[in-house]
Amino acid sequence: RVPTVGIDIGGTKVMAGVVDADGQILETVRAETPDKSKSPQVVEDTITELVLDLSDRHDVHAVGIGAAGWIDADRSRVLFAPHLAWRDEPLKDALTARLAVPVMVDNDANAAAWGEWRFGAGRGEDHLVMITLGTGIGGAILEDGRVKRGKYGVAGEFGHMQVVPGGHRCPCGNRGCWEQYSSGNALVREARELAAAESPVAYGITERVGGRIGEITGPLITELARGGDAMCTELLQEIGGWLGVGIANLAAALDPSCFVIGGGVSAADDLLIGPARDAYRRQLTGRGYRPEARIVQAQLGPEAGMVGAADLARLVARRFRRAN
Ligand code: BGC
Ligand code: NA
Ligand code: ZN
Repeated sequence: RVPTVGIDIGGTKVMAGVVDADGQILETVRAETPDKSKSPQVVEDTITELVLDLSDRHDVHAVGIGAAGWIDADRSRVLFAPHLAWRDEPLKDALTARLAVPVMVDNDANAAAWGEWRFGAGRGEDHLVMITLGTGIGGAILEDGRVKRGKYGVAGEFGHMQVVPGGHRCPCGNRGCWEQYSSGNALVREARELAAAESPVAYGITERVGGRIGEITGPLITELARGGDAMCTELLQEIGGWLGVGIANLAAALDPSCFVIGGGVSAADDLLIGPARDAYRRQLTGRGYRPEARIVQAQLGPEAGMVGAADLARLVARRFRRAN
């Protein structure tokens, strides 16, 4: 029942934590995600440094990685990552060699779904869909306690379903992907555009960052919305509206009992989830004639991926001990 380390690698932040067998976080350390233009090894350096730092104070027996990318069916290579430099990167082998402990690699949203199912809002749910709103949109399908991975490992890439033909360009290469309309990036892009256009609705936020539009962030928008700023509230409503539309589509395809919304943007709470529920109710096919899935906020918040990755690492380490 020793603690393990979970690491969540997102488009902007890397969060690493020591987590015990009950999902309690004992310590967390963070770093910025190295720029996409840097070599893939630089992200691996960052991961290694964080683990070594935690190892100074904790016995680290296994490390679990939840990475913002497409992980192959063997859970060993990162096939592709729209927001990171990895292209067919043998992440598991590279890290196992450097860390000298068992390493588990999974998609960040899959890890978050696992965390919420084990310790959070998804407990007891046998048909759960997780949606994480961060740099992009992450997705996961968890049925009967198993993450559905598809044939090749990349099921649940909901963020790249097209919702607007010819819409915003996505770093995956396509246009109009869902994550271009409902994510932290989408929120910040819209706010910065309004500020750059010198729209009067943006005066509040522009003043707050002293005119430095590049300093407008998701957490700042949420903070101002909580304080009653009209533009920030409307932007969260818009993001929430797109979230609800996408959830209705997912309900049509997957029919779960529960959607758990996590990731950094979900900290906006009812400012986001409220509009999402409204749009979902308007959009759900067959509404009024079918049971409707609940939409709930992640209980582990932005830490779900880290906690889930640590717990998955525990399972892998146990199997490793039995086999050796
Ligand atoms: C990636 C996913 C990832 C998600 C959230 C998307 O752009 O394609 O693999 O889970 O962002 O980080
Ligand atoms: Na996923
Ligand atoms: Zn895309």
